[in-house]
Parts: sequence; C-alpha cells; structure tokens
Amino acid sequence: MIHIGYSKGLSVDISLLHTIVAAQTRYGKSTTIRTMMQHIPDNYKALCLDVKDPRDFAGAGTEIPIFIENKTDPLMLKQLLEQESHLWLRREFPELIDLCKEGDTFEKVYERVNKRMGEKVHPVVKDRLKVLQLLLRKLVENMATIELSDTLELSAKNNVMNLSKAPGEIKQLAVYSVVKRVLEQHEHVILVIDELPDFAPQQYRTPSKSMIGQAIRKGGAKGIWLWLSGQTMTGVDKQVLKQAMIWILGHQREINEAKRTLDQIPFKTGLKVEDIMTLPVGHFVVCTDEGGYITYVQPEGVKDEIAKKVSLGEVSVNEVVEMLKKGKKEDDDLIYKEKYEEEKRKREEYEKTITQLKDEKATLETELKQLEALKAFGAALENFLIEIGAATSSQTTVIDLEHRDLVVNIHHEGEKEVKMSTSTKEGQMMYCIVNEMPSEDEGWAQIDLIKKLQEHGWNIKQSTVSVTLSKWAAEGYLIKTERGYRLPTKVKFNIKKEN
Ligand SMILES: Nc1ncnc2c1ncn2[C@@H]1O[C@H](COP(=O)(O)OP(=O)(O)O)[C@@H](O)[C@H]1O
Ligand SMILES: [Mg+2]
Repeated sequence: MIHIGYSKGLSVDISLLHTIVAAQTRYGKSTTIRTMMQHIPDNYKALCLDVKDPRDFAGAGTEIPIFIENKTDPLMLKQLLEQESHLWLRREFPELIDLCKEGDTFEKVYERVNKRMGEKVHPVVKDRLKVLQLLLRKLVENMATIELSDTLELSAKNNVMNLSKAPGEIKQLAVYSVVKRVLEQHEHVILVIDELPDFAPQQYRTPSKSMIGQAIRKGGAKGIWLWLSGQTMTGVDKQVLKQAMIWILGHQREINEAKRTLDQIPFKTGLKVEDIMTLPVGHFVVCTDEGGYITYVQPEGVKDEIAKKVSLGEVSVNEVVEMLKKGKKEDDDLIYKEKYEEEKRKREEYEKTITQLKDEKATLETELKQLEALKAFGAALENFLIEIGAATSSQTTVIDLEHRDLVVNIHHEGEKEVKMSTSTKEGQMMYCIVNEMPSEDEGWAQIDLIKKLQEHGWNIKQSTVSVTLSKWAAEGYLIKTERGYRLPTKVKFNIKKEN
C-alpha cells in the first residue's frame, strides 16, 4: 500500500494501480506525487518524467539522461511531425514510408530526404518532399540541441528525467520512447507522467498517446503502473481515463471544470462539485470504487503527528507551508520557482480580467449607442415642449383623454386637467382630432377638420375653429405643421370609455 496522508487522523493508503492526480495548479499535485514516490513497494522502481518548466520534481530522485529511441517508424514519425506542425501529412505519408527504412535513425531519414530532393523527381512529389524536409530538419536540429541517451537505465529506486527544457517534440518523443522501452524491457516500474493532456490528447493521434494507451491496457500484467497528472482531465483521451482505477482529486475553481472532472471517473463516487471546489491546498479526495476520502497529503519532511493534526483541522496548511519554507530556506531554486509560478498565476488572472473588461466595454458601447438614440428623442421632445410653451425643462407631459359616450376628458397631467364634453364646440373638435384626423407628420388642414365635424352634425364656424386651433397649439395640445396641425406624436393620449 502507498501512503498518501491522513483523513480525520486516519492514514490513507492506496493500492498500486493506474492512478490519476488532477487539481488546479498550485494546489499540491506534484507534492502528492512526490509523497507517493516515497512509499513505493520494495520491489518497484519509479521513473518520473519531469516535463514542466520550471521543474516540479527536482530532487525527487536520481537524475537520468533523456532517453530517445533513435529508430524511426513511418507512422510514428508522421504523427510526431503532424503534431508539431499542425499539418495533415496524408499526401506526404507515402513519401515518408519510402524515406523510413526499418530502424533508421532520424538523421538518416533527414539525409535521405535531402538526397531525394537533389534527384530528378516529379514536381508534385518534390513539393511533398519539401514539406518533409523542412519538418525533419527542425526535428533533427532540435535533437542536436540537447544531450540524449540511447539507453534507459533505472539504476536508483526513484529516477527523474529532466525534460523541462526540451523542445515540445523532444518531450513527445521521450515520453513515447520511455513508455515503449519500459513496456518492452522492464517489469515493476511506476511511470509518472505530468501534464497528461499534452501527452494523451483526446483529439489527435500522437506517438505518446498510443504508447500510454498500450501501457495502461497491458502494463498491469507486468507490474507497470502509470501515475498520471494534470490540471484537468478535460481533453484527455477517454480510453486512457477509463483504465484509471484510483483518482486523486484536488481543488478546481471553475464549476464546469469540477463537473467535467467528476464526469470522467469511470466508477461511482457520489461526489458533488462543491466537494472539490472547496478543497484547500494540499487536500485531495482520494477516490476508489469503494468511495472517496478527503485527505490531507503529507508532504516529504512533515511529521506524521503534524499531518494528522492538519487532517483534523487542528493545524492549518499555512502553518505547514511556513514550516517547510523554514526548512528549505537555502533552496533558492524553490523560492525562484514559487515566485515564478505566483507571477505566472497573477498574469493569467490579469489576462482573464482584461478579456472580461474588453467584453464589458463592447456591451457598454452597444448600450451607449441605444442610449444615444433615446437621447436624441429626449432632446426632440424637450424642444417640442419648449416650442409649444408647455414646458421649460424636460418634464414629461401626458394628456389623458377620456371618452364617455360623447364626453371627452382631457388631463394634462402634472399641470392641469382639461375636461371636455362633446356638448361644447371645443369638445367636439378635440374628439374629432384625437379619433378621426390622420396622424401623418404633415398634419391636416383646418378645412378637413371642419368637414369631419360636419359628418357628426357639428357645425362650427371657421373662425371659431381657427381661433381654437391656434390657442391649442400655444398650449401644447397641437403642433403647427405645413398643412395645418397635428397631434404631438410623442405625447400619450389615453382615451377611456366610462360607463
Ligand atoms: N500537502 C501540502 N501541505 C502543505 N503545503 C502544500 C501541500 N501541497 C502543496 N502545498 C503548497 O502548495 C505549493 C504548490 O504545490 P505543488 O505540489 O507544486 O502544486 P501543483 O503541482 O498542483 O502545481 C507547494 O509549494 C506548497 O507550498
Ligand atoms: Mg505540479
């Protein structure tokens, strides 16, 4: 059993099985794996692929050189070049098959493509060779920048391969080569692979993914176990995740990330998103098909008693962090790394904030545009009110027109209420204006109103009509137009029928 830490004062130990460790950065994944590496069974060795820059596993074991099997195979090479270049090399593949003779080194394949380019070949083929030449040159040049070994020896109990400074395709090649070689020639080995989404992506075929897939399916029989970690398991190949029977889950801040993480577990845990969104640093839920335990991970150099107390809530994680810092004060590397990661985290937050602010700015600009239209209307209304003398400031004017049979009531709200009845000439005029006169901008002529009035049998002298209309225009009930008058469109007329 492998000791991890304590849950409410009781030791939490796991069986040796394919294991996933997932948590947001800085919540203790590497610390957890380092703890696990301290407790591997006697007949086992561990090899940790330290891929992140800055390093996570410096000092976690004996450093071994970067192992790359310098033997090509056309399919692997195709996938490797595709992944690095983001090109689809379907058309180039037949050429690549010709270039890769069984067991050739990468340099040899590159030499061969150069030679072929010098020969007389069909222009279409030449174009394909050109693509391959470019990608192979980059690969060979990258390989030349770092020291590589063509043997993989696990001399110590815990071994660490420092890939932190290696170019992306070298990391891929190393993961591929190491997993392949361990599967072929070793037994009782624990392989620690961090940044799993890079090496077993859901969406692409990559050399490392196919090897990790093989190891997780067939490795157990030979005592080869994978400890895989990453910030999130979203985007990791489902076939790989299906085979992991132990899940060590730490803090996730985002609800969707937390949800997706839980959804990936191939057995029932009964965990809720809150359970992992509330986990503090160094605390993980250790899940097996028997259930989940909230566990405080006991880092190297922290005494059992202290770790137990943290798991019981009697000592805080911060106190442990302070204790560990004191113990490692001289370790400049670690301090540098902490600072670097802190800065990196801050920068990520800033970038997020900037994106959010940009979004908000865009929304505000749209809203502002809408407001401008409203403002223009407001200004027009105000002008109108001032023009008709109904207002000196931007007050809203509402005219309420009630109609009870032949009774018309006009309320000029906030200022005065005008009651009109069709028993008066004014009431008859207003009744027709509100109900029957056209509402077009150019308005209607006085004569049209007189005609409408006549249809009701209301005979009003032209002079009376004329005087009344200009009085109303002065009071703001009407607007003068080219043709004559119209009702103000922006002012509401409510007509109510009373019984
Ligand atoms: N179990 C723990 N107890 C106390 N402090 C921890 C624990 N796990 C992590 N930490 C603190 O959090 C920091 C980040 O942990 P680390 O394992 O590097 O996280 P990750 O690998 O998830 O980014 C450590 O340097 C340490 O200060
Ligand atoms: Mg880490």
